[in-house]
Amino acid sequence: MFGQLINTLKKNPKKIVFTEGTDPRVLEAASRLLAGTFLSPILVGDRDEIFAAAEECAFNIRGAEVINPLEYDRIDEMVDLFCELRKKKGVTPEQAKKTLSQANYFGTMLVKMGEAHALLGGATYSTADTVRPALQLIKTKPGNSIVSSCFILVRPSATGENEVLAMGDCAINIKPTEDELVEIAGETAECAKLFGIDPKVAFLSYSTFGSGEGEDVDKMRNAAEKASAKYPDLPIVGELQFDAAVSPRVARTKCPGNDIAGHANTFIFPDISAGNIGYKIAQRLGNFDAYGPILLGLNAPINDLSRGCNASEVYSMAIVTAALA
Ligand SMILES: CC(C)(COP(=O)(O)OP(=O)(O)OC[C@H]1O[C@@H](n2cnc3c(N)ncnc32)[C@H](O)[C@@H]1OP(=O)(O)O)[C@@H](O)C(=O)NCCC(=O)NCCS
Repeated sequence: MFGQLINTLKKNPKKIVFTEGTDPRVLEAASRLLAGTFLSPILVGDRDEIFAAAEECAFNIRGAEVINPLEYDRIDEMVDLFCELRKKKGVTPEQAKKTLSQANYFGTMLVKMGEAHALLGGATYSTADTVRPALQLIKTKPGNSIVSSCFILVRPSATGENEVLAMGDCAINIKPTEDELVEIAGETAECAKLFGIDPKVAFLSYSTFGSGEGEDVDKMRNAAEKASAKYPDLPIVGELQFDAAVSPRVARTKCPGNDIAGHANTFIFPDISAGNIGYKIAQRLGNFDAYGPILLGLNAPINDLSRGCNASEVYSMAIVTAALA
């Protein structure tokens, strides 16, 4: 999977901002990227501190572009643009300057101003602090009503053919509505295709085709129906339980005659609790590697790391993020 993404980037190299320029995991990932030619890191922070941190960990970041928010030569232009983007909130240039001294906002504006194609943050920032500047400044792309997210889960197999799944929305929208679930499904399926998945979408529930009752059952059933109408070419099934979604044997019993049930590879969860717990079970107990959250529906690729990430995950997510640009 990564070989294909790297080849795409080699044809069209990109620049990616890392908001946590002194973090050892970011520095290790940056040193690996600098050894290649397909993705150039921009590290946000104080140059001396960044190079001292790299030296302490023995990572070679020679050639890395470093931008310090406090010494940025286009800061006046950035402040003006920030005030324009946040006009409806009545942000003053003084407030803008203060906000832009924070690496998460500053880095996001570097993408907005075209200094970089993509951004990866969240090694130390929370998801909300990484995502909020993107929601406020990069905004939802035309035609979409929300920003959502998905995870790509990859389980290496002994035969060499990896098992690849997509799950959404496990990280952003806390309690999506029916219509938001439809949008999440469409975006997750599009993202799944980028990772070589031929999406078969399951709207998950504790009920299979009316076996249980409740508000959330109705929500998932209605969302599946609306999604089938909106994306007629996308195989969609729901509402159904996870076992019926993935096991052909269970599907034969619980939803006989449905040829998507039992073969789903793109899973839509009713809310963030189910989604977040679900992907982590796959990761921790199912031996899947989890890439994400990949933000969907934004005007530019910005992604969030888990604070528990390691350097290899930073490197992989940087490639995934830039490949979306
Ligand atoms: C994503 C999240 C941070 C946004 O909430 P928030 O920070 O409270 O943001 P606000 O509600 O103040 O909204 C900030 C802006 O983003 C916009 N926004 C919020 N959610 C959005 C969404 N899903 N899509 C698009 N825009 C959104 C708002 O309209 C608002 O725009 P404005 O400032 O221009 O008016 C919040 O939904 C959240 O915390 N989600 C869960 C994150 C999490 O903990 N994940 C689990 C770990 S991976």
